[in-house]
Amino acid sequence: MACMFRRAIAEQVSQVLGLPPEKLIPHIHAIQVHRKQDSPDFQLYVNSVPGGQFNAACQTNAQKLASKLTGNSVISQIGTGRGCVTFSINRDLLTKTILRKINQDGSSYGMNSELLSNTPRGLTLVEYSSPNIAKKFHVGHLRSTIIGNFIANLKEAVGCKVIRMNYLGDWGFQFGLLGAGFSKYGCEEKLRANPLQHLFEVYVKVSATAEKDEDVKQSAQDFMQRLENGHPQALSLWTRFRDLSIEEYAKVYKRLGVQFDEYSGESFYTEKAQDILKLLKSKEILKTSGDGKIVVDLSEQGDLSTYSTVMRSDGTSLYITRDLAAAIDRMEKYSFDEMIYVTDKSQETHFEHLFKILEILGKEHVSNCQHVKFGRIQGMQTRRGDVIFLEDVLDEARSRMLQNMANSETSKTTEDPADTAEKLGIAALIVQDFKGPLLSDYKFQWDQALQSSGDTGVFLQYTHARLQSLLNLWETREKEEFDANCLQDPSVYSTLRHLLRYDEVIHKTLKELQPRYLVSYLMGLGHLANLAHHSLRVKESSPDVAHARLLFFNSIRVVLANGMRLLGITPLDKM
Ligand code: ARG
Repeated sequence: MACMFRRAIAEQVSQVLGLPPEKLIPHIHAIQVHRKQDSPDFQLYVNSVPGGQFNAACQTNAQKLASKLTGNSVISQIGTGRGCVTFSINRDLLTKTILRKINQDGSSYGMNSELLSNTPRGLTLVEYSSPNIAKKFHVGHLRSTIIGNFIANLKEAVGCKVIRMNYLGDWGFQFGLLGAGFSKYGCEEKLRANPLQHLFEVYVKVSATAEKDEDVKQSAQDFMQRLENGHPQALSLWTRFRDLSIEEYAKVYKRLGVQFDEYSGESFYTEKAQDILKLLKSKEILKTSGDGKIVVDLSEQGDLSTYSTVMRSDGTSLYITRDLAAAIDRMEKYSFDEMIYVTDKSQETHFEHLFKILEILGKEHVSNCQHVKFGRIQGMQTRRGDVIFLEDVLDEARSRMLQNMANSETSKTTEDPADTAEKLGIAALIVQDFKGPLLSDYKFQWDQALQSSGDTGVFLQYTHARLQSLLNLWETREKEEFDANCLQDPSVYSTLRHLLRYDEVIHKTLKELQPRYLVSYLMGLGHLANLAHHSLRVKESSPDVAHARLLFFNSIRVVLANGMRLLGITPLDKM
């Protein structure tokens, strides 16, 4: 495993430089694999050596250091590259160590690496998805859902305790409208059959009428008033809308492989938001802006050049007030070590203001709060038109994938084609979304996302299924025992060197919370797997060779599956 090799290298170097190995370990990097080309395994840039012993990453310095180092039973060769010293690991040892390690560690492979030893492993609260009831589930919510799920998976994998929270938009004027409109346009049967669809229909109808008809608008306001006052009938209708919506959402989340520990929502914080307003008032933080709004002044000079409105003129709370109450409640309830909010970048200012006000209120936990923001997806449409619900996207992905499967000659008939198509479609959506920097906008293209070759989720699934079917040949035998001589092949070594780098990739992905590093790593692994699959026959080989090769292919499959699961993809065994 990379760890052990990094340490062995660090120990060698530390003898020469007189530095503790721990200081050197983070600077020893596994070298990226370029196709089948053989190259050394690790490198150490001389200018990264702590203490500034080498001022420049020049060849002379690299040679100077390299000349003082000697190989041993682990390090078979020492050389130099541009400004760095390079190390090759004994091939036999490399093969045995990595394959055994993956076989033993399974899903935790790479997660106990020394590189991650300083990673905080406390309680992480991840808030994601957070759609608004009775409104459209826009593609931004889809991104929040898959990105939040990925972050939660990753944090959990490295040993954090994770709370997955959905903070529903379940309060506000839309409920006034729904309450007022339901008696007119609502239908019990339709509500039970398809709550999200029906509530949205009612909402669209009643908001159109409310625009023209003052009476409707008034009755919506009245309903909202009753709701705010806790009127039992109003509340019970609201509760039904909310419960039915959650039930429905949970079904779709399940298709997506996403779940939540808690369904929170804005509605929980209408009263507590009033307490926040009192608190802000008592601390003399509230001001009245020129247009009569009650605000918190966030400007440096106290001239209201930046402010956040926290109260309406009628005394009711706003989105940010409820968020303040929610954040403080979570701090008190969970005393989390970190909290991550996942939304699109249009809410950047909202979260900046939120954190700023929490800071003004002296809430120390705010330094552990983070807004992970992402860009827009353009052009995600279904054949029927705009995306309105999450379900629309999943259905579209599945039906397009089924079509592709029917047209393809190579795909075999699986027992449950719809399920296979669903998992392929979701993999495609996720990979398409995770390929670039989260903050970038991107144009969504179904055809491109669903291709089976190229860097797509379908390609990853295809590779995983191929490996799995190859492994069906595997006879049971002591898996750890194998002859490394049976694996002397360039395609094996390049793959092993890639497997060696997994912990570095996880480290970087975690540090930046950017899935693209993991995605591109898995694509690389997929390509290497396919190359190896071509050159290393299993069926025609002797039992020993076949066994060693299958052990090797299984290691690739394990790491591929681990990475896919972190991204939120369920690996397919058959296609
Ligand atoms: N419901 C909000 C929306 O759809 C997202 C909520 C994000 N989370 C938060 N704590 N404000 O825009």
